[in-house]
Amino acid sequence: MFSFFSYKSGSSNMKDVKIALQNIFKFQKYYDHKNIENYNKLFSNLAGFNYAYSFGSGRMAFYSLLESLEVKKDDEVIIPAYTCVVVANAIKYIGAKPIYVDINLNNFGIDINNLKQKITHKTKVICVQHTYGIYSDVKEIKKITEGKEVFIIEDLAHLLNDKLTENNVGVYSDACYTSTDHTKIINTYLGGMAFTNNIEISKKIKKIYDRSNFLSRFSIFKILFSFIIENILIHPKNYKIGIIFYKIFRKLKFIYNFNDDLITKLPLNYPYPAKLSAPQALIGINQLNKIEKNIQHRKKISILINKYISCFSIELLNNTGLLRYPVLVNNASDIMKICQNIFENSIWFTTVLHNRKSNFNIVDYQIGSCPNAEFACKHVINFPTHEKIDIKAVELFFEKYNSIINSNIISIK
Ligand SMILES: Cc1ncc(COP(=O)(O)O)c(C=O)c1O
Repeated sequence: MFSFFSYKSGSSNMKDVKIALQNIFKFQKYYDHKNIENYNKLFSNLAGFNYAYSFGSGRMAFYSLLESLEVKKDDEVIIPAYTCVVVANAIKYIGAKPIYVDINLNNFGIDINNLKQKITHKTKVICVQHTYGIYSDVKEIKKITEGKEVFIIEDLAHLLNDKLTENNVGVYSDACYTSTDHTKIINTYLGGMAFTNNIEISKKIKKIYDRSNFLSRFSIFKILFSFIIENILIHPKNYKIGIIFYKIFRKLKFIYNFNDDLITKLPLNYPYPAKLSAPQALIGINQLNKIEKNIQHRKKISILINKYISCFSIELLNNTGLLRYPVLVNNASDIMKICQNIFENSIWFTTVLHNRKSNFNIVDYQIGSCPNAEFACKHVINFPTHEKIDIKAVELFFEKYNSIINSNIISIK
């Protein structure tokens, strides 16, 4: 049963693999702008934005937005102290300073009172993250910034839906970005997208986009190869044997990754920001065309989990397809040990800057400065909701572990 909780490539299927296979040897078409433009257009229409530009990763899309907002050395960019380290890195690459704001424990989003204390005359941007897919109230944050020259960027890496703007996403901010890496709602193996409805910002992103390069053809080949291998080997049906081969491929360095998570200076060994390649855009188009099913499944799994551990209102779960279903528990590490086969170290955000485990001062985070975020990291477990998660497997899991989880749940009002 453990295989059902394997967390990579949850949003892709064999049709996506077929697209990757059909395109992997068409090297001359890797940089074909037409497919990329189609992807950008489809994505912006679906999400409800006027302008969209795809990049090689979410962090690159964020970096490009910071640059387009003319964030400079010594400017301050506020981010939640419960995010992925690459978000903080992108701010460092620009030369600005990440300022960390604490989170609310009931939605893992920015704590407004703490935010008010963190805004200074140097604040240039506030980045609002809809963690795990739970909407943070951007309207409230917008009110605080009224009369100040502060931009708001929404991080949609965990929240993606059709008609986002109908749900107030992107409505109160200046720009948004998302990630389409292999653990997210749209999976182009690696990838990201910057969105805006503001024509002036759009013109500036376009300039950055136009002068950006693609990754090398060899890197793109490796990305497509990694995508194919991962979808086949880490598929629930093949997992038991597949994971062994996958680990061998990883050891042999056949699996592509940016490996920049701990790097705080602009990477020089590949273009940063880089444009997304055309084959990845084609995979993205295929997934956008079936996003409705993807989101419905995520809602179904979230509502099913909620039956056992009821942490959220049904209204919230009906409205959004959670990327992961989070719950705070007393002894998270013990529970993870008991369910080790299921989680396989795949819990998200067990440190304030996911993927950085020490030396937080390098990215300007002071231990103890955001107590709620640090508490959440120690106590969170979170369940994936993607289409490879089988309803029956979730039921079996909770029949077995329901009582231990429930007796340890930390209830937050
Ligand atoms: C909240 C959040 N923002 C941004 C990112 C960065 O996305 P990418 O890995 O595509 O650069 C991540 C990555 O997981 C994330 O979790």
